[in-house]
Amino acid sequence: MDIAVIGSNMVDLISYIDKMPKEGETLEAPDFKIGCGGKGANQAVAAAKIGSKVMMITKVGDDLFAENTIQNLESFGIDTEFTSKVSGASSGVAPIFVDPESKNRILIIKGANQHLMPEDVDRATEKLKACSLIVLQLEIPLPTVYRAIEFGNEHGIPVILNPAPASKDLDFDYVCKSDFFIPNESELEILTGMPVESDEQIRAAASVLNEKGVTNVIVTMGIRGVMWVTKEKSQTVESHKVAAIDTTGAGDAFIGCFAHFFVKNGDVLHAIKMATAFAALSVTKRGTQSSYPTTEDVGEFLKLRV
Ligand code: RIB
Repeated sequence: MDIAVIGSNMVDLISYIDKMPKEGETLEAPDFKIGCGGKGANQAVAAAKIGSKVMMITKVGDDLFAENTIQNLESFGIDTEFTSKVSGASSGVAPIFVDPESKNRILIIKGANQHLMPEDVDRATEKLKACSLIVLQLEIPLPTVYRAIEFGNEHGIPVILNPAPASKDLDFDYVCKSDFFIPNESELEILTGMPVESDEQIRAAASVLNEKGVTNVIVTMGIRGVMWVTKEKSQTVESHKVAAIDTTGAGDAFIGCFAHFFVKNGDVLHAIKMATAFAALSVTKRGTQSSYPTTEDVGEFLKLRV
């Protein structure tokens, strides 16, 4: 197995809106789409679509969404041996609002994701030990995230930690034990309490994390590209200018694709460049997982760019 994603799954309920209603107001919105999402599942699907063998440790509810979520993961070849149902819980659900500028606002109701426990990580020990990379986000309980980081450290498996959604409760002792810390600018702002308006400010905030002991900070900055900051150096990879129609799940697309290429040859800069292209293509289509490109799409896109 190449990659283990230990994290969330959600059902995305995406409303395409002209504007948000005010309190007490009813507004008509032009369109709606339902799809499979959740930061963990999105990252797993992105990695699988680009060619990795992926397993997912996650929990679904005992409602009508559960079976569809499992079948969806399996349709991408993702190993669901450690994906289980929680009786009495709803599946995770995410009402999402996408405005005409392709920007999104997301609510999450975690449901069964809240029941993913540290023991669920240990239950998968044998299969997990054979993985080359562990990928984590913050839509599951923090103790489970911490156990997964420890597991990676105990078995010499590199860990990617995507601190999304940002939680001020995140314990930096564990963050420092991850190999790649990948926030977006707003998560970086919340976690460091520092401004992130300019590239200089982003670099300074990331450097504070380096000083605290985080080896690799990779900040995804949307249209402004991606900044990779270590104690020794900082490098920015520019974004691809595309006609964006829905940015939902673009950060997850980046992480899943980055994970794939990092496992493939360990070249971090190359992995960032490929993931930047993959994420750019994802914003040109509606939906989250449904917008992720194939390996062929990425190849074609990069050929045209050259
Ligand atoms: O990052 C996008 C994802 O955030 C959506 O798929 C939604 O489910 C929430 O988890």
